[in-house]
Amino acid sequence: LKHVISALDLTRDDYFRIFELADKFSTSKGKLSYLSNKVISLAFFEPSTRTAQSFHTAAIKLGANVIGFSSEESTSVAKGENLADTIRMLNNYSNCIVMRHKYDGSALFASEISEVPIINAGDGKHEHPTQALIDLYTVYKIFNEIDGRTFALLGDLKYARTVNSLLRALTRFKPKKVFLISPPQLKVRREILDSLNYPVIETQNPYEVIQDIDVLYVTRIQKERFVDEVEYEKVKESYVVDNKLVSMMKKDSIILHPLPRVNEIDRRVDKTPHAKYFYQASLAVPVRMALFYDILGE
Ligand code: CP
Repeated sequence: LKHVISALDLTRDDYFRIFELADKFSTSKGKLSYLSNKVISLAFFEPSTRTAQSFHTAAIKLGANVIGFSSEESTSVAKGENLADTIRMLNNYSNCIVMRHKYDGSALFASEISEVPIINAGDGKHEHPTQALIDLYTVYKIFNEIDGRTFALLGDLKYARTVNSLLRALTRFKPKKVFLISPPQLKVRREILDSLNYPVIETQNPYEVIQDIDVLYVTRIQKERFVDEVEYEKVKESYVVDNKLVSMMKKDSIILHPLPRVNEIDRRVDKTPHAKYFYQASLAVPVRMALFYDILGE
């Protein structure tokens, strides 16, 4: 692997190789030295808790040195420097750039300039491929397989970049079917829908399909992506996954969420055996260690 801009940059073999490496790193103790001669830039032009901190932790655990920033305002972008020049500067200092940016396509743009690998940590409403790696690694850990499972993605399927990446990543597997549950205004965009190679069923009503689902993937309504706040107000509480809905799920089914959540999962659901979203978040470090090792390891 060099750049990771889209979930489609990884083959099925890449996914499984990274899962196997993540298994190894999950059990490794203490600090490793595989990347002790590397510098990693964490270029976060947009806010993050999990992605930034887990990439940072993964880099430290592999012995790498880490530089970077966590807001546009703390860089010379605030003085008018453009993204291309910022990437050129980070090329001088580091062996890999993990980048989050508000604009769709910014990671691809950076990869066309950069001489070092770019890892897309979220570009606007476009993609978040390493989140899809974590999502599918979680499914793999719990069910031992991804093929043959029934998924449902619920919530904001239009603006959530994790949805685009997960749907694209699933084209490398053979899901039995994928339900897409959203209000009409927040349906998966047509170009994504048309590119999928597995059965997809769109609905607005989770109660119609909840009994069939193995993996319920809940997303936050992405307030920051709405052009018009009035439109956000209309859909902001479209769904709340609560114990009434969860009580209708199959015994071994799971609930995932890339987090952060706002109100779309009732806190009481956290105590049910279906709630795997905090476990999912905990897998970010071994998965991102695996990815760094795959890209930068000797
Ligand atoms: N899942 C995720 O991308 O979370 P952060 O925005 O906190 O990084």
